[in-house]
Amino acid sequence: MDSVLITGAGRGIGLEFARQYATDGWQVFACCRTPESAEELNTLSATPGIKLSIHKMDTTDEASIKAVADDLVGEEIDVLINNAGISGRRDVEVGSMDYDSWAEVMQTNVFAPIKVTEAFMDHVCESYMQLVVMISSRMGSIGDTTSSGSMIYRSSKSALNMAMHSLALETKSRGLTTVSVHPGWVRTDMGGSEATLTPHESVSALRNLFFQLRDSDSGKFFNYDGTELPW
Ligand SMILES: NC(=O)c1ccc[n+]([C@@H]2O[C@H](COP(=O)([O-])OP(=O)(O)OC[C@H]3O[C@@H](n4cnc5c(N)ncnc54)[C@H](OP(=O)(O)O)[C@@H]3O)[C@@H](O)[C@H]2O)c1
Repeated sequence: MDSVLITGAGRGIGLEFARQYATDGWQVFACCRTPESAEELNTLSATPGIKLSIHKMDTTDEASIKAVADDLVGEEIDVLINNAGISGRRDVEVGSMDYDSWAEVMQTNVFAPIKVTEAFMDHVCESYMQLVVMISSRMGSIGDTTSSGSMIYRSSKSALNMAMHSLALETKSRGLTTVSVHPGWVRTDMGGSEATLTPHESVSALRNLFFQLRDSDSGKFFNYDGTELPW
């Protein structure tokens, strides 16, 4: 059976990935910080015919990542989706920078997805699809950025993209395909109510893209519609 592990699966884009893969018959390992308050995940998990287990994981806490990896020893993971992310403070600029917020965002958006990938590397390498996805953002594209603002978030996603690209080169010999994707501007707590895409539209398009990826796509940065984005 195809299987997927999703971080930050309690709400937003992560929850929609869990919903769609589970409804499609996949084994879903849904990771979130507070399973006890993840009502929609719990409802999904209790639905007859759905194969979804909920795992407590704070992606900035190595012990909690390792605990889940240990629980899942022997399980293959076809697709690992590093989705959990934060925006940090958007209202800061040079002269009034908030380095605590920046450090927290780098921990969550850059170090955490790499730690999670390290922890589940064997699970993914043993699978059929062997796909690692970083949910990045077009806001991390240097080539695509012409206006100021959001330095904290933008720099974290640029760094994530470089880490992804390096990871792809390092793991090529193990057969892994690793990509960064921009989910579009999506109506979630982070994206806000003015966003142009519903989580359903974004995730449907991304799942379609994942199916079309080839080994030669490893290390690339894609928009949700399958077009490549500039670094
Ligand atoms: N929405 C957009 O328009 C948009 C655009 C480009 C990229 N993205 C990216 O898409 C991803 C998902 O965003 P979203 O729009 O769904 O945001 P969201 O609605 O704010 O949800 C963020 C998710 O990340 C989880 N999370 C944050 N820090 C975590 C941690 N340390 N450990 C575990 N989980 C953590 C949250 O869990 P809690 O519930 O526990 O806080 C929540 O499930 C992010 O990486 C974001 O940067 C979003």
